[in-house]
Amino acid sequence: TGHHLAGHEVVGAEDVASVVETGQGSSLLYGELLPDGVSQLMEAFFVNRPDACRAGSLLELGMGTGKVALQLFLSLPGCSVFGVELAPSRWALADAALRRLAEAVPERFRHEPVAEHRARLLDLSNGEEPRVFDIVCGSLLDTPIDILAGASAVVMEVCLPKEVQRQACRVLQHCQVGCRVVCYAPLHGMVEPCRLAPVRLPPGATDTSALLGDGQGGLALAASWKPHGHGFAFYELAETADAAAESWEQSGAEEGARIVVDTTGCPSRGRRMKYTDDAFCDPEGDYAWKQGDKVLVGYSWLPFPDLGEPGDGPEGGIDGVMWMSAFIVKVADDQFVTVCYDDDGTVEDCVHPERIRHFGARRDRVANS
Ligand SMILES: C[S@@+](CC[C@H](N)C(=O)[O-])C[C@H]1O[C@@H](n2cnc3c(N)ncnc32)[C@H](O)[C@@H]1O
Repeated sequence: TGHHLAGHEVVGAEDVASVVETGQGSSLLYGELLPDGVSQLMEAFFVNRPDACRAGSLLELGMGTGKVALQLFLSLPGCSVFGVELAPSRWALADAALRRLAEAVPERFRHEPVAEHRARLLDLSNGEEPRVFDIVCGSLLDTPIDILAGASAVVMEVCLPKEVQRQACRVLQHCQVGCRVVCYAPLHGMVEPCRLAPVRLPPGATDTSALLGDGQGGLALAASWKPHGHGFAFYELAETADAAAESWEQSGAEEGARIVVDTTGCPSRGRRMKYTDDAFCDPEGDYAWKQGDKVLVGYSWLPFPDLGEPGDGPEGGIDGVMWMSAFIVKVADDQFVTVCYDDDGTVEDCVHPERIRHFGARRDRVANS
């Protein structure tokens, strides 16, 4: 458990670049489902669906170093697995693990490099038709439609900024009826029409309720940052958006404890420090930065109306203000910005432009009289 896993430490410049170039502002924020959490997940995916494995493959969109996807592949002998990871360094760790497995147990597994940033592990114990575990380095937003349509379950344990969440919600609409989906943040209703419905408890069920979550779109799973259980969104694809809406209505009318699902989407250091934008004026003027620009982003414990300049004060800024190097991922019409931090690729959206400075360009200020 914790915050110093290989997936945290391996991140480099190529990974950060992938956020800007391929991930449309996705975040490299890292954490893992724990092995117990993956066991809980399998129960949640397959309880009351004994044939689900045969109905399609399992997708892990945002698989990190591949531990969850590999545990699923090894535990579910009927299933093929497809994993996608944006960060090349994390994908390379997953690939290395599959190679090691094939080297250690050659009579059962074979590793095949398919193309650059794409590999396959074959389980030969299945006789004529080997099971496949494909791993691809790329964005989950580019998952081919036929792969989505053929999935019986999807894990998307990824922190995404709001705009990318919307795109991910659109992507999930390609999944087949009955496909179950676990997501880090609630995505239902982010696009219209939306077929994401809560996984409902069977009538009168009590003993399956923990396995199937709260019946209202929440499921708690053991995770590295919350071993006692983090609340994830838990869906089943309905036949139509109307059927999904009806399902939400029915679940909302029911009593019973709810699992709290984290709605922050993309927690960032700036937000965690409870920095408040309230002290800033509304964004005005032309801030003159654009996608891909390297900038400094300031944050502070204190609600300064002006963060000053990075060179001011004793430690690179005025007391209580820190400056972090980042790339601009997107500038919205209202001038608020999505940035991707240089050091670990985490993304912060809705950054007030008054927190951003160009390298080496001091702003002129009118002296206080
Ligand atoms: C919180 S980690 C989860 C890792 C893995 N699911 C686990 O539980 O061990 C989320 C992962 O999603 C990846 N990611 C973020 N945005 C992505 C995108 N657009 N496409 C694919 N992967 C993405 C991140 O790089 C990170 O490795």
